[in-house]
Amino acid sequence: MNVLILGSGGREHAFAWKIAQSTLLTKLFIAPGNAGTLECGTNVDLKINDFNAIEKFVLEQNINLLLVGPEDPLVNGIHDYFLSHHSLKNVSIIGPIQKGAQLEGSKEFSKQFMQKHHIPTAAYKAFTKHNLHEAKAFLNTLSPPYVLKADGLAAGKGVLIIDSLDEALTELSNMILNQKFGNAGNTVVVEEFLKGIELSIFVLTDGLNYKILPTAKDYKRISIGDTGLNTGGMGAVSPVPFANKEFIEKVEQSIIKPTIEGLQKEQINYTGFIFIGLMNCNGTPYVIEYNCRMGDPETEVVIPRINSDLLEVLIATSTQKLNTIDLQIIDKTATTIVLASGGYPEAYEKNKVIDNIPLSNLIDDCILFHSGTITKNNQVLTNGGRVFAATGLGTSIHKALQKSLIIANQIKFENKYFRTDIGEDLM
Ligand code: AMP
Ligand code: GLY
Repeated sequence: MNVLILGSGGREHAFAWKIAQSTLLTKLFIAPGNAGTLECGTNVDLKINDFNAIEKFVLEQNINLLLVGPEDPLVNGIHDYFLSHHSLKNVSIIGPIQKGAQLEGSKEFSKQFMQKHHIPTAAYKAFTKHNLHEAKAFLNTLSPPYVLKADGLAAGKGVLIIDSLDEALTELSNMILNQKFGNAGNTVVVEEFLKGIELSIFVLTDGLNYKILPTAKDYKRISIGDTGLNTGGMGAVSPVPFANKEFIEKVEQSIIKPTIEGLQKEQINYTGFIFIGLMNCNGTPYVIEYNCRMGDPETEVVIPRINSDLLEVLIATSTQKLNTIDLQIIDKTATTIVLASGGYPEAYEKNKVIDNIPLSNLIDDCILFHSGTITKNNQVLTNGGRVFAATGLGTSIHKALQKSLIIANQIKFENKYFRTDIGEDLM
């Protein structure tokens, strides 16, 4: 079986690392990939939203399965593109059709979906320039802080949490009338603030059956104590200790089942991952958001805990036979520490030479996933804000972190930055 993975982050390196171990694999390609994915397969210089070029490559290389890492091509309809081209009809796609990707691509769509299918989530109302005058009355029904969300994709920046009513109204106008987030903010969802502890659950579905993957907690802020600017994620831990069997059972009954059934009722044939961002409010789970893909860096702690052959699982997903899979999870804790370029998530420099990169799997229970790295003239250089995810495995968070720290400290590049408190709140 020939596989193409779309994307270039740590998530895609983790997928590539795992799929490369499958006995079912013939050839693995990653587009565009990074310096780490080169160790698992062949990197291909393709743009993830250039569907014509992807089609050409898939036909040339006889690709049987396409795994889409990031949300962009899904929201832009890559799956629908493949379905509508006769020559591509035998290629299996892991990632939903455009309508399914709206769970992430439109906050309003996802809130309506949850409301319709009685899935617990924060109370909300959506505003556009046409009903902006009603905003103050609605905000008055909520207590601060106020949560404002740009409807469309805004590179993870479209959510504002604001304490004062006046400021919330100003920002709402900035989003809707002054295009603060471009067209993504033409519609804004205003919602009730949920107080609790966040975690994420990942589900893989073939549209009919589903498997619940390990839970993970992401550390989104740049600085220690989860303070400072929001980032794509500075580290992750799996499993999340407070997400015990009883809690997962609640999530399955009140959220996962109604989500899968809701998709079926709306005739959205969903094949792929559903990343459910949850707030645990005193033991009751609420959905904060859906994503139509796996998380990054969550994938770097979830995938290493899966013992089963991932390619076999993905093939079963594409043939609607997930029910035949017995998903084996490794009973260890995984942690990952993201090594970032100094300055991230604001301006940072690229092309810094990276030294002391450990060979993968040389140190027991340590796995180094590359994110923003590139190979030029036989040197590995930094090529993004998040450069590596250093994953460790152990019998406790503490032991896993010790492994992550071995790699995090060993790697050298100018202005390397990482958080030293990942997982501390859970210990
Ligand atoms: P999102 O992009 O929807 O994941 O939102 C970004 C972050 O904002 C989430 O990870 C939460 O920390 C926070 N957030 C979003 N919605 C809410 C809410 N209703 N209540 C509290 N925090 C929220
Ligand atoms: N780490 C959060 C995300 O992938 O959206």
